[in-house]
Amino acid sequence: MRAVVFSRYGDESVLELTERPEPAPADGDVLVEVRAAGVNPVDWKHREGAVRSDRPFPLGMGWDVSGVVRSTVPGGPAVGEAVYGMLPLPYGGAYQELCVLPASAVAPKPARLSHEEAAAVPLAALTAWQALETAGVTAGLRVLVHAGAGGVGHFAVQFARHRGAHVTATASARNLEFLRRLGVDEPVDRATADLASGEPFDVVLDTVGGPVQHASWRLLRPGGTLVTLPEPVDEAHRIPGVTARRIIVTPDGEALRTIGELIDSGAVHVEVQSVLPLQEAAEAHRVSSEGRVRGKLVLRL
Ligand SMILES: NC(=O)c1ccc[n+]([C@@H]2O[C@H](COP(=O)([O-])OP(=O)(O)OC[C@H]3O[C@@H](n4cnc5c(N)ncnc54)[C@H](OP(=O)(O)O)[C@@H]3O)[C@@H](O)[C@H]2O)c1
Repeated sequence: MRAVVFSRYGDESVLELTERPEPAPADGDVLVEVRAAGVNPVDWKHREGAVRSDRPFPLGMGWDVSGVVRSTVPGGPAVGEAVYGMLPLPYGGAYQELCVLPASAVAPKPARLSHEEAAAVPLAALTAWQALETAGVTAGLRVLVHAGAGGVGHFAVQFARHRGAHVTATASARNLEFLRRLGVDEPVDRATADLASGEPFDVVLDTVGGPVQHASWRLLRPGGTLVTLPEPVDEAHRIPGVTARRIIVTPDGEALRTIGELIDSGAVHVEVQSVLPLQEAAEAHRVSSEGRVRGKLVLRL
């Protein structure tokens, strides 16, 4: 089968489209014919060596798939069924014609989405879902989502609105109208915003890290919750009375089933900035690492 792999950590040039043996499903795994693979920042962080696995090279790439089930397990999806899912971290293996993943990690592909759109969903949407769960976001809470136009952010703002929260989100000026269309109550230009002078938030989702995480502490009311994604909580900036947690996303087919129902009902929009052929995986990594993607990038197989 064709697969994008890499045999040393490094820049985009280490990615190689090559022939690899078909993967063998372990107990509980389904084998999926991949139609499309989502691209996430963790993909190029893995390629650079910032996220490592203990398996030998060559290593597979990518965690998001949409495709068709070729072999299954009792209680799993049917052979021939269209599914989408997230592979468990830290072993990638989505940028390839066949992939294995636990049956518990897949759900039916949302009917209104193409495979390319569905592959954009799992890792980013599950991250947003699990972040809001962690923070206990409910109706009436004031929620701030940093980078609301990004992969995780555009799901987080829609899920938070669906839970009835009042949502503020940051983005650059070119994305403010996009945030409005997603239902964000207060889209904020990240270049000019003075968030500290407004009403404090109950929950802040930090999808950026560094100075954005540091500034986030002071935007929260006492008893509020900071959830951070890219980096661990920086204890040096901790403010007493504020809860702070970093989460690491985990595969969850049941949550993907619920998310798929929200998508099919029209409550959640999936934004795909562009779809590239598998052989352009390196270009997809280059674009993703610039940090300006609106929604998601996807590879077509
Ligand atoms: N811990 C976990 O399990 C987990 C899971 C998923 C993702 N992550 C991490 O979370 C981060 C976000 O992931 P993602 O998939 O959402 O990334 P992404 O899609 O690449 O994010 C791109 C967006 O970030 C915005 N942005 C860039 N710099 C910004 C800044 N300084 N302030 C505000 N917005 C900024 C850009 O919006 P504008 O162009 O409008 O500014 C762009 O739309 C990544 O570091 C990723 O590795 C962690």
